[in-house]
Amino acid sequence: MKTRKIQKAVFPVAGMGTRFLPATKSIPKEIMTLVDRPLIQYAIDEARAAGIKEFIFVTSRGKSALEDYFDHAPELESALRKSGKTELLEVLKDTNMDSGAIAYVRQNRPMGLGHAVWCARRLIGNEPFAVLLPDDVIAAEKPCLQQMVEAYQETGGNMVAAMEVPPEKAGSYGVLDIANDMGSIIEARGMVEKPAKGTAPSNLAVIGRYILSPQVLTNLNRMKQGAGGEIQLTDAIAEEIGPGKVYGYRFRGQRYDCGSKAGFLQATVAFGLARPDLRDEFAAYLAELNAMQKAAQ
Ligand code: UTP
Repeated sequence: MKTRKIQKAVFPVAGMGTRFLPATKSIPKEIMTLVDRPLIQYAIDEARAAGIKEFIFVTSRGKSALEDYFDHAPELESALRKSGKTELLEVLKDTNMDSGAIAYVRQNRPMGLGHAVWCARRLIGNEPFAVLLPDDVIAAEKPCLQQMVEAYQETGGNMVAAMEVPPEKAGSYGVLDIANDMGSIIEARGMVEKPAKGTAPSNLAVIGRYILSPQVLTNLNRMKQGAGGEIQLTDAIAEEIGPGKVYGYRFRGQRYDCGSKAGFLQATVAFGLARPDLRDEFAAYLAELNAMQKAAQ
């Protein structure tokens, strides 16, 4: 299928991050660190790997640390250069953006994810775009958005990342109503945000990666309130449902919900163990901790 290249990605980062208070009183949630990199860096790297060229942040008050993070740090860089720390200069390179590649728009009140994406409408214009929620961190051999871009080249339409969740957890997610299950690609005939207990149409939940058509922005113009009184992205995508219009994509990889404390801790352990420079020491510590706990029981 002939699809347009996905060149723009929206990163909604205007939420209040209340689940991480008091830390998020003064630090944006997206700057919180998984091993040695802030959550936002993982999302940006994934977007780059998928061919994204323009990065649009939807921010709010108190998020200036995010803007600084992606800027050059001339004093730090010159100090590192002087002391010959070239490997650290190399590490910093990933945090630099080409001039003009990154743009910030404000959401002046947290009215929901759909509203946050709508705030970026003028920067997106009339082309398909990606949305990445940085608190969903996905460990995968091929980055999740890249997998989706490849699948989207076959399907067109709108595509959301999807994963199976236990029935009792479905109420925390957007859930797909499946029309046609083709394995990794699922055609949807409906989508419900946070279904009430026992009403979820499947156990296939939507997580924070999307490829969307600009029509979704038009749907958001109507500012319809959904679950929790918020303007929901799921509802605006669901309005697009029709033959060949909305797909779920079962990505290959492990998703961590770093918007929750338990998910963040799990990700910290998994990413720590995956790092060659930390693995041995960290695994030995975890084994010791485990043994101590067993002995105490
Ligand atoms: P969450 O539902 O995790 O909300 O938002 P939150 O405010 O970040 O965190 P809690 O629940 O209070 O702890 C999912 C994503 O949508 C963005 C958030 O920044 C996060 O990336 N978002 C949410 C907005 O940008 N604006 C909103 O109005 C709501």
